[in-house]
Formats: sequence, structure tokens, C-alpha cells
Amino acid sequence: MILEVQAINTYYETSHILFDVSLSVDRGEIVCLLGRNGAGKTTTMRSIMGLTPPKKGSVRFNGEELRGRPTHYIAQKGMGYVPDNRLIFPDLTVLENLEIGVKVPKNFQGEPWTLQRIYELFPILAERKHQPGGTLSGGEQQMLTVGRTLMGNPELLLLDEPVEGLAPLVVKDLGRQILKIKAAGQTILFSEQNVNFATLTSDRAYVIDRGRIRYHGSIEELSTNEEIKKKYLMI
Ligand SMILES: Nc1ncnc2c1ncn2[C@@H]1O[C@H](COP(=O)(O)OP(=O)(O)O)[C@@H](O)[C@H]1O
Ligand SMILES: [Mg+2]
Repeated sequence: MILEVQAINTYYETSHILFDVSLSVDRGEIVCLLGRNGAGKTTTMRSIMGLTPPKKGSVRFNGEELRGRPTHYIAQKGMGYVPDNRLIFPDLTVLENLEIGVKVPKNFQGEPWTLQRIYELFPILAERKHQPGGTLSGGEQQMLTVGRTLMGNPELLLLDEPVEGLAPLVVKDLGRQILKIKAAGQTILFSEQNVNFATLTSDRAYVIDRGRIRYHGSIEELSTNEEIKKKYLMI
């Protein structure tokens, strides 16, 4: 296991949000954290990254306990986080935005991401490389944040609702791109509300509801489990 989250409990001030959340991600997998709005997906991501540190439980990455460590330390260990707000530098060009992400972690193994590989993955970024990031569409900005994070060669890529609010055609593009990123050997944990999108892209899924993991299994199992889908995923 590359990531092992065990029974974390996370609070915002006095509100208890995550209750004994456990999940794991193995090397090379795409794992999806599924849940409705407000279920606790972002809080789980923030807990893993140390942005909202859990009060109890354990977050192990390659066997090392990271709970209580600062976010920059966690990032250095090889976790690349794309938050749900698509923060790019609007006045910098696409190319400059990508260059800012460049980092090769100390114990990095494999083939590092390069500008060329990012442009092959997202041809639209190559076309727009000299344009300010702020002129890109929402979908293109999302590709840019993913590209920038990949330039940091994370061992684990965390994507918080990468396709939220994007047009169906762009969602399709991003789905294909996520599969290509996986084919390149990248391990991914992403969150999502839509079980259909998760089915197209993931190997395994966890379903979270009101701060508790309610189900986990292969994506095939989940896609035929009408009860779980109805109970926790339909709007
Ligand atoms: N900064 C915050 N302060 C207090 N409560 C919050 C804060 N952020 C989120 N919450 C609450 O935590 C719960 C989980 O939110 P969140 O993790 O953002 O869910 P999701 O990402 O699945 O939509 C929700 O009830 C939400 O209202
Ligand atoms: Mg969220």
C-alpha cells in the first residue's frame, strides 16, 4: 500500500466531520472517493494533506506516519494535491504555470513528467502555452492545474472533484486523460459525486456519507449495487 488512512477523525473547530474514515490506495491504482455534496470528500483530502489535520487516526504514506506533519513536508514526500478550486496563476502564461510545478522528489523512480509529455496529454495546453492562464476556460484551467501538479512528479496524485461544474464534453476529455495518466503508471486518488464518471475511470471506490465510509469495493461491484447507489449517491 502506498497510502493507508486508518480511522481518522477530523474536526472544523468543534464540529466533528470525519468519523473513523479508513481507506487505502495501492501503487498504480485509481481509487475514487464517492459521495454527495457535503459528505466529507474535501475534508478527507485536506486531512491527508495535513491542511485540516485529523485529531485521531493514522495517515501512512509508504509506511511513514504523516498525521501531524505540516503540509509542505507531506507534499515533499510525494503527494500532489489538486484542490477543488483550480488555483492557477492567472497572469502567468500556461508555460510559466507549468514550470512553477517542476520538482523531482528525492527518491523518485521512473520517468519524470516533462513539458513535452504534459503537452501530449493535454494538446490544448500546447496550443495555448503563451497565453495567460486566466484566459483559459474552466476545463482548460483544470487541465493546467493537473499538468502543473504532475510536473512535481508526485507518487500519489490527489484530485478533489476534478470535473465538477465542467461541460459534458470536457468531462469526457478529462476522463480519457485521467486514464492516460494512469496508463503512464501514475497512482491516483480522486473524489467525485457522479458514479458514472467514477465507473469509467476507477479501479476501486469508497463511498462516503456524513463523514463515514459506508461502502468500499471494486468499481464493478459498486456499479451494480443499486441499494448503495440509491442510499448514498443519488441526489
Ligand atoms: N471550514 C469549514 N468549517 C466548518 N464546517 C465545514 C467547513 N468546511 C466544510 N464543512 C462541513 O463539513 C462537511 C463536509 O464538507 P466537505 O468535506 O467539504 O464535503 P464534500 O467535499 O464531500 O462536499 C459539510 O457538512 C460541511 O458543511
Ligand atoms: Mg468538496
